[in-house]
Amino acid sequence: MAAWRLVVGSDDAGYEYKQRIKADLQSDPDVADVVDVGTGADGRTNYPTVAIRAAEMIANGEADRAILVCGTGLGVAIAANKVKGVRAVTAHDSYSVERSVLSNNAQILCLGQRVVGIEVARRLAREWLAHRFDESSPSSVKVLEIANYEAR
Ligand code: RB5
Repeated sequence: MAAWRLVVGSDDAGYEYKQRIKADLQSDPDVADVVDVGTGADGRTNYPTVAIRAAEMIANGEADRAILVCGTGLGVAIAANKVKGVRAVTAHDSYSVERSVLSNNAQILCLGQRVVGIEVARRLAREWLAHRFDESSPSSVKVLEIANYEAR
């Protein structure tokens, strides 16, 4: 299986988690590359800016998946989902993270730095990376229905 090409991004409210999770991903042998779309240490980028930048990289085929962090994980998901072809979810429990990939084929996991502890966030990111969507599963037709609506 090819190694992951990943993107990470956050606003100021998610900066510390983004940095920690980026370091975890960079040391994962299943990860080929991690692109950081900001924000930087100055924390001056609004959440829609980084979310849309990351989502466009997924939509353009420049990256496979992304992790986005803001205060709640909500704003980045709303913004990323505006990019055609992108499925972004906010999930703070193991089961939802699993289903976001296996049921919904979501390419983007959104986390809230003000919602979960850092160790939970790191664990969720690790688990998320281990899940892969099965194109032959019954979930495929449902994901296709979303894509068909988008393409109409
Ligand atoms: C801070 O701007 C906060 O509103 C943001 O990080 C996020 O939680 C929005 O959904």
